[in-house]
Formats: sequence, structure tokens, C-alpha cells
Amino acid sequence: MTENRGQLESILGALLARRKSQSKLRMLNIAPGSSVDFSSNGYLSLSTNLAVQKALLCRLEAQVAESNSPGSRKSILGSGGSRLLDGNSSFAEALEAKIANFHKSEAALLFTSAYDANTGLLGCVPQPGDVIVYDELIHASVHEGMRISRAAKRIPFAHDSVSATHYSQNAGNRIKKPSRQSKNQGLDDVLKQLSSDERVARGKTNVFICVEGLYSMDGDIPLLEDIVKAVDRRLPSRNGYIIVDEAHSVGTFGDKGRGLVCQLGLEDRVWARVIGFGKALGCAGGVVLCSSTTRSYLINYARSLIYTTSMAFTSLASIDVVYDYLISGQSDLSRHNLEALIRYTHRQLYALYTHLHPDRSILHVDETPFRSPIIPIFTIYPRDLAGHCQRSGFMVRPIVAPTVPAGSERVRVCLHSANTKEQVDGLCTAIEVWVQSRVVATSETRDNYLEATNVLTKQDKPQL
Ligand SMILES: Cc1ncc(COP(=O)(O)O)c(C=O)c1O
Repeated sequence: MTENRGQLESILGALLARRKSQSKLRMLNIAPGSSVDFSSNGYLSLSTNLAVQKALLCRLEAQVAESNSPGSRKSILGSGGSRLLDGNSSFAEALEAKIANFHKSEAALLFTSAYDANTGLLGCVPQPGDVIVYDELIHASVHEGMRISRAAKRIPFAHDSVSATHYSQNAGNRIKKPSRQSKNQGLDDVLKQLSSDERVARGKTNVFICVEGLYSMDGDIPLLEDIVKAVDRRLPSRNGYIIVDEAHSVGTFGDKGRGLVCQLGLEDRVWARVIGFGKALGCAGGVVLCSSTTRSYLINYARSLIYTTSMAFTSLASIDVVYDYLISGQSDLSRHNLEALIRYTHRQLYALYTHLHPDRSILHVDETPFRSPIIPIFTIYPRDLAGHCQRSGFMVRPIVAPTVPAGSERVRVCLHSANTKEQVDGLCTAIEVWVQSRVVATSETRDNYLEATNVLTKQDKPQL
């Protein structure tokens, strides 16, 4: 027994050592309280909003008072079981109705996380023989759902692509940008090929198309209207079902933060949405927005709903007060501030980039103005740049492969409505200092890196 355990521990240790040698070892860390937050996903700064927190305390106190009455089953602690057993409550059902109404959906079903919502949905809805088509940068939870699903085929398509010509609409305008290197076809080509299958053409096979409302690594937005058109065109038997993961786009996009699908008026064209409460809404948990029939189906088949303790009252109440805050329009000012800060930050970062004019491999900021609070700064030294910013008092994170494709490593800047222009200026100064120190770094290190990772094509390689 001890011997076996020793053997297992040494296998695990060796795998960790390999990760470490590849600079890929993941570790838990705690952000110093004194650093400026340019890293968390709380884009609207709601988790630190005093009015929201006070409203939550009132809700919790009322629940505690009620829990004291004889025979009461109310509590602010755990829910008591799975939603299907003792974990359901009129509070949870009323919250689902409120959320469905806000997002203009027929129904809503809560999950303990957006991860569980994705695995629950994708894991049970596709029927044997069905096909899932997904953006190659889709979140890990969708991959996990696809992995456990009974779909016959899972086909990736090139990120940010509908037809052979790839576009980005970061600026809200159609701005043509060179397609990223992708071995995958565009969505339209994938659907065209699929539609030559007789069962697909006759509508016997369901085709699910999975995209995100805002991609958390690139900060870009899908061409949802074009995706809807491509699905209508290639799957005229109406067997194309679009699923949009709005974990990052809810709160920041759309009237009162209803999300991208509502902003574009596509509620009836998108088959299901997954909303995450852990990002802009500052809470935790997730919800699937769908038809009443799909909701009932999920209650019967989604394993991540059935076999887990449902959310505690504290979680439900925090989501409830945040939705009240959104519905009442109180978050509008935060959204407005955030939008102004996004424009300011991009302007400053791009000005810094053009002023310093470093080699693209050292630092690159996209020229296209951003609409999202996530701004990637591309560099082949993400850990070094992030470490320097952190030591300067600004919490930003390095994002490396395999989280992003090798060759597109970056430092990700996440903006919040409570960040200030002065903080952005401070971050830019820290980046400037780092770039200047990097420019004098030896050419040898850089060449070695480029060779090892094949990061850049020949013509992109710096002329040193
Ligand atoms: C696009 C996307 N979907 C789903 C999730 C999962 O969200 P949660 O943290 O609620 O499990 C995340 C979180 O990282 C995400 O970025």
C-alpha cells in the first residue's frame, strides 16, 4: 500500500517537475491587497459596491429572522440538498423568473457555476448522432460538456470567423483584420460541408453551434448576426441551435447589462444562453436561459444539476440584489464609467506602443479600439512583464499556452468601473519602464525563444 502510494506520488511529482521545466506550473497565490486590480473579472466593481453589499446584508438578516420561527426550513447556510430533493425554494424559483424576464428568455435554470451550466447543458442535450460545432477558443467548460455528450462529431471552427474572410468588430465597426493562424476552417465552410450530409440536410441531425459573447482572452466579440445568418443559410431545415456563453458579456453589454444577445435583439434566434454571475456581476454561479421544455429536460438529465447540492441562500440572495441593482438602472453609471475607461486605456496603451515602437515580439497592442474591458498586451515575455507590473503595484496576469495558442502569449489587462485614469497611467508607466529595459536585453535570448517556439514567421522575426 505504502509502496504503491510512493509510486503514485513519484509519478505525480515527475509530471509537476515537467510542467515546471516548461514554465507551465500552476500555483495558487493571493493578490496583495495593496495592488491595483487590473486582473479580476469584476468589470462593474459590484462586489465592492457599498449599496449592493448593504442590500445583501438586509436580505440575509431578514432570512435569519425568518429562520427563527417555529418549523421554518429557511437558513442562510446550505440549501439542504440537490435542487430535486430538499434544495429547492420559492426564492430560487422567483429568482429564475426574474432573471429570465430581465434577459427576455422564456425560462431560466440556476446552476452552482457557469462551468456546471455548460457541462450540464452540453453534456445532456445533444442526442446520439448530433454534431457540435464550436469556436476554437471556446471555454474549457464547453469542452468538458462536449466530452461527456453523446454527440457524434465535435468540429472546431477558426476563431472570429464566419466566412473565409475573417473580421473583427471590436470597434463596433466592421474592421477587416488578418486572420489569425488557424488550422481550422471558418464557420460557414464547416456548415457547408456538414449540410452535404443527407441527415443534416433533412434536419434529422441536430447541429449545435457554440460561441462566447465576449472572449475572455482576446477581449473580442463574435459576429453573432453573421453567425445567425450563416446558420439559417446552411441549415434551412432549422436544425441549427446556437448556444452563446455570456459569462463575460453580461453586465457589460446591452441595455442595463442584459448581455450581447439582447443588445443585438437576437433572443429568438439564439437557442440557449449561459450566463455567469462570477464576472461582471461580482457573485458566483450560473444560469441557463432557454425554453421551458429545455429547462424541464435539464432538470431531468443535467448531471451537474441533479447530483450536487444546490446554491446556498447567501449565493441566491447576492445574485438577487445584483439583479435588482441592474434592473433599477443603478449600474448604468458604472457601465458608462467603464466604457470611458476602456477608450482611455486603449488610447494610452496604443500611444505608448507607437511612441516606444518596440519590436512586435517584445510588446504589441492592437490598433483597433476595444469595446470590451479585456485588453491583451502581446509579448513573448508575459511572465516577465506581468511580474514587473505586479512589483510596481499593478495586478495583471500573464496568459500563456495552453490557455492561449502558443505564439499568442500575452499579459491581460482587465478594467473595472472603479479603476481610475491615474491607475491606468501608472500601469502604462510601469510597462514603459519594462519595455525600455527589455529593448537592451540580449538578442541571443530572444532568438533562442523564437527558435524554440517557432513563434513568428520569418518576416516577423526582429532584425537585430
Ligand atoms: C467563457 C466562460 N464560460 C464559463 C466560465 C465558468 O464560469 P464559472 O466561474 O461561473 O464556473 C468561465 C470562467 O472562467 C468563462 O470564462
